[in-house]
Amino acid sequence: MTAPIPSVADLSAEQAAAEHARLATEITGHDQRYYQDDAPTVSDAEYDALRRRYDEIEAAFPALSGADSLTRKVGAAPSEKFAKVRHGVPMLSLSNSFSDQDVLDFVGRIRRFLDWPADKPLGFTAEPKIDGLSCSLRYENGRLAVAATRGDGSEGEDVTANVRTIAEIPQRLKGADVPEICEIRGEVYMAHADFAALNARQAEAGAKVFANPRNAAAGSLRQLDASITARRPLRFFAYAWGEMSAMPATTQMEMVAAFARFGMPVNPLMRLCGGAEELVAHYHAIEEMRADLGYDIDGVVYKVDDLALQGRLGFVARSPRWASAHKFAAEKAQTELTAIEIQVGRTGALTPVAKLKPVTVGGVVVSNATLHNADEIARLDARIGDTVIVQRAGDVIPQVLAIVPERRPAGAEPYEFPTICPCHLKTPVMRETTGTGEETKVRRCSGEFACPFQRVEHLRHFCSRRAFDIEGLGEKQIAFFYDKGLLKEPADIFTLEARDKASLTKIENFEGFGKTSVRNLFAAINERRDIALERVIYALGIRHVGETTAKVLARAYGNWGAFHQAALAIAGGDAAAAAEMDALDQIGETVVEAVAKFFAEEHNLGMVERLAAELSVRDAEKPKQDTAVAGKTVVFTGSLERMTRDEAKARAESLGAKVSGSVSKKTDIVVAGPGAGSKLDAARTLGIQIMSEDEWLALIG
Ligand code: IVH
Repeated sequence: MTAPIPSVADLSAEQAAAEHARLATEITGHDQRYYQDDAPTVSDAEYDALRRRYDEIEAAFPALSGADSLTRKVGAAPSEKFAKVRHGVPMLSLSNSFSDQDVLDFVGRIRRFLDWPADKPLGFTAEPKIDGLSCSLRYENGRLAVAATRGDGSEGEDVTANVRTIAEIPQRLKGADVPEICEIRGEVYMAHADFAALNARQAEAGAKVFANPRNAAAGSLRQLDASITARRPLRFFAYAWGEMSAMPATTQMEMVAAFARFGMPVNPLMRLCGGAEELVAHYHAIEEMRADLGYDIDGVVYKVDDLALQGRLGFVARSPRWASAHKFAAEKAQTELTAIEIQVGRTGALTPVAKLKPVTVGGVVVSNATLHNADEIARLDARIGDTVIVQRAGDVIPQVLAIVPERRPAGAEPYEFPTICPCHLKTPVMRETTGTGEETKVRRCSGEFACPFQRVEHLRHFCSRRAFDIEGLGEKQIAFFYDKGLLKEPADIFTLEARDKASLTKIENFEGFGKTSVRNLFAAINERRDIALERVIYALGIRHVGETTAKVLARAYGNWGAFHQAALAIAGGDAAAAAEMDALDQIGETVVEAVAKFFAEEHNLGMVERLAAELSVRDAEKPKQDTAVAGKTVVFTGSLERMTRDEAKARAESLGAKVSGSVSKKTDIVVAGPGAGSKLDAARTLGIQIMSEDEWLALIG
C-alpha cells in the first residue's frame, strides 16, 4: 500500500526541496528515454502528472526555481535541445564510385573538365572513408570555439560542450602558422574495442546496447549531458576544412599535414597517387587491411590534391566535382523469406518488401529488404519460404540479391503480384507508361490523392525532417490523426489547434496523448508557419523534385509568389515559363513536366492554396548578391580559350548568375569567343551587352 500523496500546501520547505529533486531526476530519466532512446517507459498521462506535481511544487516554493530547473529546459525534442549552428561553408557529401571502372571515369571526367593533357601528371589523394559522423571544429585564435554536427549540411547542432570531452581533440591548436579562424572538419568515430567495451557496460547496466560503432558514436556525441559523452570513448580524424582566415597550404596533402602539426589526429593511410591506377591499387591495399584497422571504414575517398584545381572544378549539387568515395562491396548473408508485404508510397508506387527471418549482415540485424518491383520478384523467382541472399551496403536499404534454389521448400508457389491496391478503395493497380508508350516496371495505385496510403505518405513526407520538420508529428501520429479524420491534407496541420479548441473531443484525451504532448505539438506546428521557400517546394511532394532540386528552384524564383505563378503558368501551357525553368542548372524536362502535371491537378491547386494561406514563406537566400553578375542571365557562345564550357558555367553559377543556352530578351550578357555565330547576331539585334572572355574574367574577378 502506498501512502496518500500530501498536498503541496502541506509540505515543509525541506520536504518540498527533497521531492522537487527526486522528481527532477525521475523526469530527466523519462525525457532521456522518450527523446533520445525513443523508448519511453511511462504513458504521457503519467509523465504529465509528474510534471504537474513538479510545477506545483515550484510555484509554491519559488526558491526552488533556480537556473537548473526543468521548467527552463524540458519539453522540446532533441534537435531543439541543441542550439543550431549555421555552417559558413556548407558541409557537403561525396559522390560515389563502386567499381574500378567508376574510378577511371571519375579521373577522366576531371581531366576533361580541366582540359588536362593526357601526358600531364595530375595528383590525387586517397584515404579511408571513416564510418562515423562528421563534425566541424571551429578554432578562433587557436582555441576551440564551436563544434557542430553536419546536420543538413547548412545547419548543424551545437555540440561544443560534448566535443570538449573528447581527449583526442585539442582544446588549443599548436604552432605559429595556425590561422586566426580555422575550421577543421573530420569524422568522430568509435574504435571496435571501445565499442565492445561500451556495449558490455551498457548491457550490464541494463541500458541501451548499440547496433554498431557508428550509432554508438552518434548517440554519444549527441548527448544533452556532456558528462555522458565524456564517459564514451570517442575519437577523431581530421580530413577537411570550412572557413579559414588564411590557408596554411596549397594542396590537400599539405593541408592535412598542417592539421597534424596543429595537433589534430589524421589518418595514417592517406597517400598521394598519380592517377586512376594508383588510386585503385591503394583502394585494394586498404581493403586488405580493413578487418585489422580497429575501426569501421566503408570505402576510400579520392580528392584532387591541388587546391587551385579543386576551386576550378567546383561542385555539382551537394558534392564536390573533385572528390569521390569509392565504396567497398556490400556485405551479404543468407536467411529465409517469410513473407512479401506490399507498401504504397507517397506517389502510389507499390513496393514489395521482403520480410525476413532476422539475420545479422555487417553488424546490423536485418529483417526487411526491398524487392523493388514485380519484375524483380519475377526475375529472382522469389517465393515465400525460399532461402535468400541479402546484401547491405552502407546506409542503403538491404536488398535481396538472389535465392538459393537448392533450399526451396517443396510446394513453394510462384508469387503473384496484387492487381488491386491494398488501400480500402481497392483501386486497380496500373503500370505507368513513359512518354514513348512503354510500360515502366513500377505499378501504381490509380487512386492518387484519394488513396489513404498516398495521403498518409504524402503527409509523412510533408512533416519529415528535410521538409517541414514538425517535431512530434511522425508516422504514427499522422496515421492516427488521419484515421480520426483530423488530418487529410497539409493545411489541416495548421488548423488542427483551432479545430481542437472548438471541439468537444480534445486530442489531449485520446489514448497516447496528454496535455504536455499536445501543447508541444501545437508549439512545434506553429513554429513552422514561418518557413523557408525551399522546404515548402520540397514538402509539396512533386515527383522528381527532391531536396536539391527544390533548393535550385527556390534560389531561382526567390519567393513563393514567383514560384507559384511560374508553376501555374507552366501547367497552363506557357512555353516561355517552361523554357525558363528548363534553362536552370540541374533542372531538366522531367522536372518541368512533373511541375506541370502537379499544378494541373485540380485537387493539388486547392491543397496548395489552402496551405499557402496558413504560412509565411521566407524568401530564398539569394546566392552571392554581392557579385558583379549575381542575378544576371549569361549566355556563352563560340569557343572559350581560358576555360572549358562546363567550368565557365559552374563558375558563373557559383557567383549567382543564371546560365542559359539561348539568347532572348531576358539575357543580360553574352560572352562571345571565336566562332560565335547566330547567338552573337541575336545579341546584337536585341542590344544585349556583349563581351569577350577576357572582359568576362575581368568582370568576375
Ligand atoms: S571529405 C567536401 N573525407 O563521408 C567533402 N569525407 O559522403 C567533404 N567521410 O559527410 C568530405 N571519411 O562524413 C571526406 N576521409 C574522408 C571521409 C569523409 C568519411 C564522410 C563525411 C562526409 C561523408 C560524405
